[in-house]
Order: sequence, then C-alpha cells, then structure tokens
Amino acid sequence: MNLDTRRLRYLQAMGIQAWGLRRPDTSPVETAARPAQGGDVTGPVDGLDWDDLRAKVAQCTACSLHKGRTQTVFGTGAREASWLIVGEAPGADEDIQGEPFVGRAGVLLNAMIRAVGARREQVYIANVVKCRPPSNRNPRQEEASQCAPYLARQVALLRPRLILAVGKVAANNLLACDQPLGKLRGEIYEYGPQKIPLVVTYHPAYLLRKPSEKAKAWADLRLAMSVAPAIAD
Ligand code: URA
Ligand code: SF4
Repeated sequence: MNLDTRRLRYLQAMGIQAWGLRRPDTSPVETAARPAQGGDVTGPVDGLDWDDLRAKVAQCTACSLHKGRTQTVFGTGAREASWLIVGEAPGADEDIQGEPFVGRAGVLLNAMIRAVGARREQVYIANVVKCRPPSNRNPRQEEASQCAPYLARQVALLRPRLILAVGKVAANNLLACDQPLGKLRGEIYEYGPQKIPLVVTYHPAYLLRKPSEKAKAWADLRLAMSVAPAIAD
C-alpha cells in the first residue's frame, strides 16, 4: 500500500471524504508578527530531566486541581518526536489511566495522527494542565499558569519541530491570547524562547460534535505537515 492509499484510509477513519485530498495545500507559511509568548522555564523545573520532571509533576499540589485527581497525566510518546500535540486537560478516562487522549476524543486524535502518516507512539502528546478539572470544566487561568512551566520544560526537553495545539484552551494558553479558534487557524505561530512553530486546530471532542468541521481540521494538519513531517526524517 503506498502512502497516499494509506493516508486515504486514515482520512476515511477521521470521517473526511476523499475529495479533501484533491487540494494539496500550498498556502504560504506565515509567521506571526507578535512576539513569542509563554514557555519561559524558570524556577524549580528548570534543568530537570524527564524522570525528575515526571516525578515532580506526580507530586505537584501547586493548584487546587490536585485535590480531584486520581493521578497526574504527564504526557506520552516519543522523546525524539517531531510533533508535540497539546490538548487541554485530562478527562475521566485519562485521569484513571494516567495517559492523555485515551477516551473517545483520543480515538479521533489517533485517526488524525494516522492521517499525517504517524503512529501515536511516534508523536508526543501532552496537555496544558496535568490534573483533571472537576466535571471536566475548562482549566482556570491560575491553574493553567501554575502548570505552564511543566509543559514549557517538556517542550525544552523534546525540542519538537512543530507544536499542534488542539482546541481553544490549548491555543489560548500556548499563545497567551483569547481569540476564538476559528480566528487562530491557518497561521504559523512561534512558541517559547526556542521559537517552535505552532499550528492550531480543532479539538477532536469538538470534531465529534461537529463532523462537518473535519475538512478544516485536515487543512490545518496539512499546514502543520508543511512545517515539519510528523515523523522525524
Ligand atoms: N481532552 C484533552 O484535551 N486532553 C486529553 O488528554 C483528553 C481529552
Ligand atoms: Fe500541579 Fe498542574 Fe496538577 Fe495544578 S494541574 S496540581 S499545577 S500538576
């Protein structure tokens, strides 16, 4: 099976019609004029290696989300990954299993990853906050701020070639803005002092509710692939 046939199958798994393939994305790469935001690693996590960082997160009580968690959800995937995918927060399934995106949204995220030619284990997946918010509410600003150094350190350790922010919460936190997702799509931003290219797309949970938006998500994924392939070459 060649790559195109395989991709077609995964696009179908994403629920995207085959005609989506007929417009290869040649849109120009734009870099946001705004300065890079966030991602400063300061304080106690600066310099930690993977194991120490994971251990620190596991014991963290820096915000009130620690009270409701079964366990922290640190992140999963390849440490040499080309792509870092960032979601919002663990849900019930993730809180129980200790791994991001293992519930219904995760099934669609996996299809999105296959559509860009990678397997889940070949990218790195993490969230803005590492503990499940009560009743799956959005993380509050102070919670996201307390947790941000952990993700920033993950980025510094990974040095991914691309960050894909899925959903408004991830996009707004990583870009330190409050724009609706629809306004943020279609551009290439930069994250942190390392100026890692960042692309935003819809959250798979949103795509499950609104499958008609999947074609736009596929356009976002093609934009992301134009920055860096999902598998390191
Ligand atoms: N939604 C997210 O944003 N992250 C997860 O890990 C699971 C669902
Ligand atoms: Fe710590 Fe982040 Fe969990 Fe808050 S969400 S307790 S900052 S690990």
